[in-house]
Amino acid sequence: MKIKYIALLLLIGIWACSKQAPKEDIIILEESSFNENWKFSKGEKANGMKAEFDDSSWRQLDLPHDWAIEGPFDEKYNARSGGLPFHGIGWYRKKFNVPNQLEGKKAFVHFEGVMNRAEVWINGQKIGERPYGYIGFQLDMTPYLKFGQENTIAVKCAPEDLSTRWYPGAGIYRDVWFEYKEPVHIAFDGTFITTPQVSKEKSTVNIKTEVKNTSEQAVKFTLETVILNQKGEQVSSQNTVIEISANSESVVEQVTEIQDTELWDLKNPHLYKAISRIKNGQKLLDFEESTFGIREISFSADQGFRLNGEKVRFQGVCLHHDQGPLGAAVNRRAKERQLQIMKDMGVNAIRTSHNPPSKTLLNLCDEMGLLVIDEAFDCWRKAKVENGYNKFYDEWSERDLRDMIRRDRNHPSIIMWSIGNEILEQSSKDGWKETRRLARITKDEDTSRPVTAGFNYYPASVINKLAHEVDIPGFNYKPMKYKEILEQHPDWIIYGSETSSCTSSRGVYHFPIETYKKHESLQVTSYDLIGPVWSSPPDLDFDMLAENPRVLGEFIWTGFDYLGEPTPYGGRDNSTNGYWNGDWPSHSSYFGAADLCGFPKDRYFLYQSQWTEKPMVHVLPHWNWEGKEGEIIPVHAFTNCDEVELFVNGKSYGKKVKGVDLTPIPMIHRFWKSDKPLMSKYRLSWDVPYQAGTIKVIAYKDGKAIVEKEISTAGKAHHIELEADRTLIASDNKDLSYITVKVVDKEGNLCYKANNNIKFEIEGKGKIAGVGNGNAASLTPLQGDQMEVFSGMALAILKVDKGAKESFKLKASAEGLESASIQIQLKDMAL
Ligand code: GAL
Repeated sequence: MKIKYIALLLLIGIWACSKQAPKEDIIILEESSFNENWKFSKGEKANGMKAEFDDSSWRQLDLPHDWAIEGPFDEKYNARSGGLPFHGIGWYRKKFNVPNQLEGKKAFVHFEGVMNRAEVWINGQKIGERPYGYIGFQLDMTPYLKFGQENTIAVKCAPEDLSTRWYPGAGIYRDVWFEYKEPVHIAFDGTFITTPQVSKEKSTVNIKTEVKNTSEQAVKFTLETVILNQKGEQVSSQNTVIEISANSESVVEQVTEIQDTELWDLKNPHLYKAISRIKNGQKLLDFEESTFGIREISFSADQGFRLNGEKVRFQGVCLHHDQGPLGAAVNRRAKERQLQIMKDMGVNAIRTSHNPPSKTLLNLCDEMGLLVIDEAFDCWRKAKVENGYNKFYDEWSERDLRDMIRRDRNHPSIIMWSIGNEILEQSSKDGWKETRRLARITKDEDTSRPVTAGFNYYPASVINKLAHEVDIPGFNYKPMKYKEILEQHPDWIIYGSETSSCTSSRGVYHFPIETYKKHESLQVTSYDLIGPVWSSPPDLDFDMLAENPRVLGEFIWTGFDYLGEPTPYGGRDNSTNGYWNGDWPSHSSYFGAADLCGFPKDRYFLYQSQWTEKPMVHVLPHWNWEGKEGEIIPVHAFTNCDEVELFVNGKSYGKKVKGVDLTPIPMIHRFWKSDKPLMSKYRLSWDVPYQAGTIKVIAYKDGKAIVEKEISTAGKAHHIELEADRTLIASDNKDLSYITVKVVDKEGNLCYKANNNIKFEIEGKGKIAGVGNGNAASLTPLQGDQMEVFSGMALAILKVDKGAKESFKLKASAEGLESASIQIQLKDMAL
């Protein structure tokens, strides 16, 4: 067996195994990464699918890959979708050998996501296509494979202009796998694990395994399912003997009990693993590993959402899928960092707006203890953009929805299936019919989680009864209607599927505090009061959630800034016949609590002050207002403590008590029918005549000073400071070190007004994976070796070639500043 494995390894070179099989197993049955050594070229290629096509001049690369993030930014690519060249045609090709020994077996290629309108050929023969870029798919290569010879796989992607409301990325942007199976095997995504009875003492686990027999004979086999806990100890084992007739499929159901269960929850997200083996006598036919968690979720009108019997209110964020400067090409560390930043803000739930996310994101949510609403679509039949998913809806929606659920159903983090966001059918009298159809499909796949959707038309979504067709209607931007909805429908369970949509730019403040939406700088003041007409400052949502305790919680728009949708600098208006009208060069969103680099904006701390318990205090604005001496600067503080005292150059401006000393904030929400401002219980504020120096806030709990923050007026920009999130990374061309770059004065105070251009150089084998600064209007390429600081800061993301053994250095320099460097060590360094 072992010799056979080694021979295969040499011959095809694709068996970099992702799953750890027990030693005696036949490794060839496992899935193997198919990410390496692809050729790529942009533009239409008449015979790009043919094996003999000459691709020698094409660029060689490893997947996942997003061709659009490489830029350049250009207005012609449409600011709404990020101003990046995502549309057009891109071809990928790869040559690989398959050994003779594998003849008679089944070979599949599994794409986790291709953006978009993908078509796939093996040796010139088309094996399939998939228009929706966010869904994974598996294709059978077997009929056209040449065993013992070289094969060519070719993939064409053809994303169209005006096909999306945000930046989608372009190309094979998620992982690809080569999968090899015996004729009798577990179906693709064919294992479904539920936990019908859950308690710490004893839980029941139900495992349904779909087995396929693609051979011409009936086959008798044993399905052996072993469950391991997180320590790798076996906690259950089941053997079921089944006969399956020729060319057929059968579902094997196994039920087992786990004593002394380690439940999956937000603090201790314990995961189990089910290992399923199909054996014919001693011969192993297939092997699958499925990670799952044991947890109980329940939703009720009076108790809200409960996880293992404990009430949890959603402190949620909506997230688009891009990873800022890295674009859409999925990277585990980038996602992990995003989620960690969100968790530190106090987030406990993610809504994957508005499409199926990467598997990587869901795995991380399982591991990190985050709840997920898994969302299928942003539109159904009625178009939101000219070339949107509506074009494929009739043919593909059922399949895409089923495939999303089949792929994702074992993730303990997922608590609801969302069948759509703000679908325009809300305004149709018979919109309920389509809602019912999709809800039924969802239930047909999984009854263990409720069906939801995010409705923004109110009351249309209720009048037209779409809201009646889902288990839990989500309402976008309707905090002031929660009461009315619940009064009219006392048995409904509802939540804010999208809230706030407040906009801001990190470190930017305009005085006096604006009541207008746009500013010539193309930035938005960070007092967090400005947004589109449907939006509201977070304060209104906090109030309405407090007044309506039955509402399950909220999902703010958004946790992170994302590429595209640069509202308020662009939008739909009458002069453009409803089409997007931009304010170039604004091209990425201002909606995030964190910017595109993941640097927190002020709003991040406003949420943190409501959502976390570890004592914190935050103060804004920065203190660099030369020329405004003596003018009043509004100073705001956020805290989760009882009270805050402000000091300016050592002089106390007095203590303010949270919830008692209120801050008036002008309201922009379309349902706010009063001229009066909202009196915020969540912000403490002082009007301070400006004088250069230091502002300091001290927060008190039970009368005791517990935490403080200080900002000083910066002197002349003097040097660069570099700070790595991690100085030790793996040499695998994937792991990342995020370097925060700051321009500071001699004393180390951040120079908010600095805009120096920083040049990055690498000494050694390291690479710059991306650069950024969080400025939604900067046109500096995100994949380059320089970036100007924005509000004093920038970001460089580093990685290193596979197999590199020596540490490397990043040097950052700028004219007129002392440069800085930082050393990154490698986990796999030669000793
Ligand atoms: C919502 C929409 C989101 C985003 C947001 C901006 O209506 O669902 O995708 O566009 O508005 O405020």
